[in-house]
Amino acid sequence: MDKGGITTDALSLRKDFPIYKNHPDLVYLDNSATSLTPQIVLDRMNDYYTNYNANINRGVYHMSFKATDEYEKAREKVAKFINSKDNEVIFTKSTTDSLNKVCYMYKKFLKPNDQVIVTELEHHSSVLPWQVASKELNLELTYIPLDRDGRITVENFKKVITERAKVLAITYVSNVMGYVTPLEEIIKIAHDNNMIVIVDAAQAIPHIKVDVRKLDCDFLAFSGHKMLGPTGIGILYGKEKILKSLQPVDFGGDMNEEVNLYDVEIKPIPHCFEAGTPAIAEAIGLGAAIDYLEMLNYEKILDHEKKLHKYALDKLSKIENVVIYNPTADIGVISFNIENLHPHDASSLFDERMICVRAGHHCAQLITKWLKCTGTIRASFYIYNTYEDVDKFVDAVRDTVDFFKKFEV
Ligand code: ALA
Repeated sequence: MDKGGITTDALSLRKDFPIYKNHPDLVYLDNSATSLTPQIVLDRMNDYYTNYNANINRGVYHMSFKATDEYEKAREKVAKFINSKDNEVIFTKSTTDSLNKVCYMYKKFLKPNDQVIVTELEHHSSVLPWQVASKELNLELTYIPLDRDGRITVENFKKVITERAKVLAITYVSNVMGYVTPLEEIIKIAHDNNMIVIVDAAQAIPHIKVDVRKLDCDFLAFSGHKMLGPTGIGILYGKEKILKSLQPVDFGGDMNEEVNLYDVEIKPIPHCFEAGTPAIAEAIGLGAAIDYLEMLNYEKILDHEKKLHKYALDKLSKIENVVIYNPTADIGVISFNIENLHPHDASSLFDERMICVRAGHHCAQLITKWLKCTGTIRASFYIYNTYEDVDKFVDAVRDTVDFFKKFEV
């Protein structure tokens, strides 16, 4: 088998990830939960803490200017990375924070009976804010029926739109199934029906080039920690015109120009949405992660994942008692189960070999219910994974199946 290309380079990439020095036997296949962190991200964050550890926008001294400058440079990097304007990028804590904020800020434009459309492929953070808002405001919450593989289709979206449709909250890539949503077409239809579209791109941004202009989405959210950056930093992109119409969720330090006894003049976007001391080191770390990803090239990243995915699928599908739920995934994610074994038990057995996978409902219970299971075992691949990782993982699955076979009567 040809194991050429970036797939073999994964081993050399590992030199950039210090965790492999400390754990040479690590088989890390839980990348959809969080990615590993390259040295460049740690160095840039360390540089902030060791060389210019000051608050931003507040100090009238050199170190504070430098911190402000680096924080804003990180924003510019994010904007360039997703093809937006700088003032359309808001730093948040996480994708969850971004998606909750946008729901909270936007819902004031909705009235009873307005329709909000979501899907069963959503992560809880994409659907739950709208579930709560729907109860509170008497909105109609509608699910786009999935096709037989569990995919979102343009046709099924068209079927559920009514003249009361106002909001579509939708995943770009499913964290359980690894399907890429045909967003461009869906967003065009949504806009033709005067809806706004909020995209959860947390699972897309590590694998595919995200271009908010091309997508023409109104809002888009993602996190730093799934794309080689640190935890504690997320992004909310919003179209400038819409952001200007929103009232921030948080009020406090730094988001205002002038405070009077009974009113406040807030700063222009995006700074009015960033009250309090932000995650400065984390924003700078996210900027470093973007530098690193840009050096790698998205086509190569996806190509690498797909090679590993195919290799793993070929081997897994030959093991008796293994049920694979998403054999046609578009990115390197395999959701599967071993018959008659709880996914948590399988994961704990893999852990004895330092193989890390996620097991359970993956914060997306609607799709596990749709699959008619309590949860799945999920292996998710990324740039530093190798064919040897897959071999070790498949061996662990096979040995687990064989071990439990002994108890079958
Ligand atoms: N949402 C993350 C996952 O899919 C944590 O595992």
